[in-house]
Amino acid sequence: MKIHHMLDYNDLSKEDWQVMLELANDIIQSPERYAAACRGKVMATLFYEPSTRTQLSFQTAMLRLGGTVIGFSDPKSSSVSKGETLRDTVKIISNYADIAVIRNPLEGAAYAASLYAPIPVINAGDGGHLHPTQTMADMLTIAREKGRYEGLSIGLCGDLMNGRTVHSLIKAFSRYHGNTFYLISTEALGLPDYVMEILRASDNRVVLSPTLEGCIAELDILYMTRIQRERFASLEEYQAQAGIYVLTAEKMKLAKPDLIIMHPLPKVDEIDYEVDDDPRAKYFEQAANGLYIRMALILLLCENNPTKRRPDVYPIAGEPFCTNPHCISNYEKYLPRMTKIVSGECRCSYCDGAVKPKEDIIA
Ligand code: NCD
Repeated sequence: MKIHHMLDYNDLSKEDWQVMLELANDIIQSPERYAAACRGKVMATLFYEPSTRTQLSFQTAMLRLGGTVIGFSDPKSSSVSKGETLRDTVKIISNYADIAVIRNPLEGAAYAASLYAPIPVINAGDGGHLHPTQTMADMLTIAREKGRYEGLSIGLCGDLMNGRTVHSLIKAFSRYHGNTFYLISTEALGLPDYVMEILRASDNRVVLSPTLEGCIAELDILYMTRIQRERFASLEEYQAQAGIYVLTAEKMKLAKPDLIIMHPLPKVDEIDYEVDDDPRAKYFEQAANGLYIRMALILLLCENNPTKRRPDVYPIAGEPFCTNPHCISNYEKYLPRMTKIVSGECRCSYCDGAVKPKEDIIA
């Protein structure tokens, strides 16, 4: 595996993913063979945002590999509350740990951290942007349940605007062909432009469906999401969107017998309790798969980076260049201006957001 960090699932080649998938399946079969695979290694979990599953599954993954874990789950209890920059926190933590897992409410935070980290950085969710290790859990689940990534009808339902797991999953599938994506959301919570561009540029079909009932019979996979309350400016705006899509046992009668229901969890009220007992509900298996794929990821990144590497030196940044108000580059002012081309458009390297006019950008 060539990569040093895990920031975006698509940083992995398809071959790398195959290696990771096989390793995760082997860990599922024979966990005892891996019980000391990371002995002597320390993992730091830097969680600036709430998490149950992701944080605990990362910690459990390292412990089950024989390593140890340090970190914080509440930035108020760390120097961040004293105003420390992400860059400083990451440099300091790199003295203590061999690998770092970061969740931060700002988009592009893990990418920013990786610029200064001599150790591998894993993105455990950066605001509404990406959540690559959830995508790994999702792709492992789909491989185990469906055995293929092509020719599938996939419904994505709920908060497609703010749901980072949806963005990561669509990016992952943009590398495969012949799937149909049913986007089931209100107009206000449709996909961000850049994700829609990626999907439209891919070799997959897109169908907009305002209701679940309108397309559930077609689906092989239904990926439900919660409305991301914490990303709304006000409670009223959240309430206007909440409770619109609810998967019930009644609606499940319309679905194929081999549909699988997925959800990154936590679920709130978008899936009725009785659906949990439907054998087609696979979200608890999906969460369990998250542990094994994180074990595989940690193992491969640690093997790949046996020693700490010297990060590159970056120029001091000038004026803010990204138009996304949630982008880390608009908060941590030392960050260099970096851009990339996505589907033919110049985008912010941190968050994929649109950048200010060309004459303002150096990089
Ligand atoms: C997701 C997340 O944090 O984005 N949860 C998770 O990591 N399992 C989904 C969510 O919070 O809705």
